[in-house]
Amino acid sequence: MARYIGKEMSRVDGVAKVTGKAKYAAEFKVPNLAYGFIVTSSIAKGTIRSIDTKEASRAPGVIRILTHENYPKPAPPTAPELNSSTGLDERDKSFRALQSNQIFFNMQPIALVLAETFEQARYAARLVKATYNEEKPTTDLESSLDKAVAIDPQRAAIPRDAVKPRGNPVQAFQSAPVKIAAEYTIPIEHHNPMEPHGAIAFWENNKLTIFDKTQGVYVVRQHLATSFNIPEENVQVISPFVGGAFGSSLRPNYYPALTAMAARVIKRPVKVVYTRQQMYTGHGYRPHTWQKVSLGAQRNGKLTAIVHDSRNNSSTFQDWVENTTEFPRTLYACPNADTPQRIVRTNLPTPASMRAPGAVSGIFALECAMDELAYALKIDPLELRLINYTEVDPDTKKPYSSKALRECYRLGAEKFGWKNRKFEPRSMRDGRFLVGWGMATGVWGAWQRPASAKITLKSDGTAHVASATADIGPGTYTVMTSIAAEYLGLPAEQVKFELGDTKFPEAPVQGGSFTTASVGTAIYESAQNIRRKLLDLANKDTASPFKTAKIEDVELLDGKLQSKNNSSQSINIFELMRRNNLTELVDVHEAKPSPEREKYATGAHGAQFVEVKVDPDVGTVHVTRAIEVTASGKIMNPKTSHSQEIGGVVWGIGMALQEATEIDHRYGRIMNPNLQHYHVPVNADILEIETIFVEEDDKIVNPLGVKGMGELGMVGIPAAIANAIFHATGKRIRDLPITPDKLL
Ligand code: MOS
Repeated sequence: MARYIGKEMSRVDGVAKVTGKAKYAAEFKVPNLAYGFIVTSSIAKGTIRSIDTKEASRAPGVIRILTHENYPKPAPPTAPELNSSTGLDERDKSFRALQSNQIFFNMQPIALVLAETFEQARYAARLVKATYNEEKPTTDLESSLDKAVAIDPQRAAIPRDAVKPRGNPVQAFQSAPVKIAAEYTIPIEHHNPMEPHGAIAFWENNKLTIFDKTQGVYVVRQHLATSFNIPEENVQVISPFVGGAFGSSLRPNYYPALTAMAARVIKRPVKVVYTRQQMYTGHGYRPHTWQKVSLGAQRNGKLTAIVHDSRNNSSTFQDWVENTTEFPRTLYACPNADTPQRIVRTNLPTPASMRAPGAVSGIFALECAMDELAYALKIDPLELRLINYTEVDPDTKKPYSSKALRECYRLGAEKFGWKNRKFEPRSMRDGRFLVGWGMATGVWGAWQRPASAKITLKSDGTAHVASATADIGPGTYTVMTSIAAEYLGLPAEQVKFELGDTKFPEAPVQGGSFTTASVGTAIYESAQNIRRKLLDLANKDTASPFKTAKIEDVELLDGKLQSKNNSSQSINIFELMRRNNLTELVDVHEAKPSPEREKYATGAHGAQFVEVKVDPDVGTVHVTRAIEVTASGKIMNPKTSHSQEIGGVVWGIGMALQEATEIDHRYGRIMNPNLQHYHVPVNADILEIETIFVEEDDKIVNPLGVKGMGELGMVGIPAAIANAIFHATGKRIRDLPITPDKLL
């Protein structure tokens, strides 16, 4: 009987977070701190002709001003090209500040002013004057679609295999009796975490310590060791709390190396924090995508062809391909499919992963196209999904280790009342409001990455558990505490879990929704090692009641090692440790994905049903009801899991109706880099959201049976909303966000 797993647990760090005790990177106290303020470019392309820091240098409190003219040249990188610690195999060819006079994007850092106080640094930054040789920038994807190219693997941020067609999609599309083809566009969107990105760095001899906002301390460590050509052991990265990140801190951004370099130059601790505006060019973004989806089908609804052509913008110095089509090409049974992906190089920073990267954009296009096909066929949209349901990965033909999507559809439709939907658009009303019901499918991975954890069981009855993962908000502190408590057989209050420090064993970045599967498995397996060590001790002990017991015959419960079959056969583990003069028992363990996974396709799935009400006079849309049913393996903590899925729905509402980074393409400059003009949902935008889990029993994905769920929560939502708006209004809006002007 599980005492913690699958049960609701409130956040163990909840009180620390709401009382301000949880320290974010820029909140640590370091003596003799100097403050850095970043100066950014006012052009998007060209070179700096001159940079005048004289007046700024004379301003009160200024210690030093770094520009490309006096920035110490870093040593050539020594670290391997592929950054293994991310778990994402990313190449560290990211933008680095103050390397030359070249301008790659508007609001690029061109100087760092260091002063005694933040206000002095900010004031002096205003006095730095730059002149430029300006060239005309290209920042618009849609006017440059003809310039789209395949990515160059040498310049790729994430190497990806070229995707090959399945079957003969072009011919199949041509000969299909029913077909649709449509183009879908999604603008650039920005992560807008509450906590701005920032760091505090200081050096002691050749050792660097940095407090940084990051989703992976080991990634930042490797990046900085490479940047300064010092051994990785000489860099400590500390990041115990993160105030939201959503992918914006997966890769090291430019500010940690800049902060560390400044600290080295002035031989003092330095703090640098982005302004909200600087975040818009400081940490990447969801790229602008253009997608054309062509679907061919037989009259009975069976898909015969999928051609999903996808293009996104990248920077001029790094190739970023948004992985829009990985999931769309496997979601339905269809013998012929092609999913070419190309990029357009623009004078903007490199994009980044942003919540459900690729999947939410690609599924928006595919699931809107499926709705269009349903109307072309006059088949109910849910029925069309069921007609094309697949139990195997259509590319590899491997069966899914588990896939309860069918049950998600059934349960969601039942709860929503889908059978009462009238097929015709504009056929449902509530007073003067047009009512629309739409649905879509969500899909995400069920990945596991190698991860390590350390358990220290103490004879005083407590346990310390640590892993250098992160908690960007999903509740990692809590779920890891519950896993350790469960399998060490201790009350959760006796378990302390720590993360976010390179002094702990290595873990991958918190991203891809693979943390519980990866780090949770490490803790689970490490707890088994502890149990084995205790059994060995017990078997040496004269008082042992189970001399012949095997590891699988015993469990840890209530501070005791006891026989599974006979609970009266037990031994107090802390007395056992004390009898053996042990104050602590330590295990460090790395968990790896099992080779068994290779025999299967793996994934997490969901069905989304939404109701919108559209005001026909002013074009406003309200999502009045959303039901999301997800199947993501075992639900470890229903309380935090529901929170994640609700968060996903809110993200989806923002993406569908509000979010867009506006660029003035004449200057290549972002026009709304703030929370006043970049719209995200507020409480008044959020009405009824119900999240339901269909649990899957899947021990193939990992021993805990958990799958990715945080990002899954948003994947189908924008498509479901766009489809509901079509149903309400008869207008097919294929360009996000669906703002009122598009509905009038
Ligand atoms: Mo994940 S892109 O780090 O939300």
